[in-house]
Amino acid sequence: MAAKKEIEELKRMIVKLKRKKGAIILAHNYQREEVQDVADFIGDSLELSRTAAQTDSNFIVFCGVRFMAETAKILSPKKLVVHPVPMARCPMADMVTADDILELRKEYPRAKFVCYVNTNADVKAECDVCCTSANAVQVLQRIDADEIVFVPDRNLALYARRFVKDKSIIPWNGWCYVHKRIGLEEVKRSKEMHQDALLVVHPECNPEVIDIADEVKSTGGMVKLASESNHRKFLIGTEEGLIRRLRREHPDKIFMSAGTPRTCYNMKLITLHDVYEALINESPEVELPEDILRRARGCVERMLQLV
Ligand code: 13P
Ligand code: SF4
Repeated sequence: MAAKKEIEELKRMIVKLKRKKGAIILAHNYQREEVQDVADFIGDSLELSRTAAQTDSNFIVFCGVRFMAETAKILSPKKLVVHPVPMARCPMADMVTADDILELRKEYPRAKFVCYVNTNADVKAECDVCCTSANAVQVLQRIDADEIVFVPDRNLALYARRFVKDKSIIPWNGWCYVHKRIGLEEVKRSKEMHQDALLVVHPECNPEVIDIADEVKSTGGMVKLASESNHRKFLIGTEEGLIRRLRREHPDKIFMSAGTPRTCYNMKLITLHDVYEALINESPEVELPEDILRRARGCVERMLQLV
């Protein structure tokens, strides 16, 4: 009970402090519930990028994994962007390096390079266009190229390839440990037990899970679908933070995990206390070399122009 009271008190202090400092708190859908509670905006990677680019606030506290905070800095280089826990990184983003891209460019000299937003800034700086789970298909359809190297998520590349038959798409072999663990047999069992539920999965899931899904959506797409759909019952194939958000926002509907609930431990590294400290100290700041910032911005802005 005391812990609950302390959490509520900390939330009040954070809200007061962010108002006093004119800060905006952005949080990804997989963040801890109490962190989402103090956020001004909660969303998926694309929605968060757009919000970071458009906000009037000069002080952004970014609650998500490192590449997301870097993307906010890339789009708002003059603003103070603070990432409360720098070691909160996405392991998939670390599966491809800028040197890998330079090597691949030699191997595929005619190809354009598309990187998932789940990449580090120096990788974006070496690629042509970025994409997110919400717009990967559109980006690949619209990019002017016959041959495309896609890094780092193999599953997302294979999913998008289903809709882009006229281009050669060469996937890198990266993966998300959270979505890769969502197994076909457990999802099938959930589906059999809840035949009236709509099965909605993230495109980072394995192809065989995508094959049996009713819908494939980014986390933001899942939030939208839950609001607009007439269905009452959903089986969700993604990280549990999103499922908790759906339950909070739609108490009249039923949201279950497709198989065992899965957690992105990297996302959960940021606690309410870290957010408070980040606001007080205005650090740790996201800082990137000028040249990387400029070239990575081109990559992200070309995505925003395409979709
Ligand atoms: P979304 O952009 O769909 O939220 O995905 C981000 C992510 O890291 C999924 O694992
Ligand atoms: Fe990275 Fe997967 Fe966590 Fe998303 S859920 S941040 S892709 S490890």
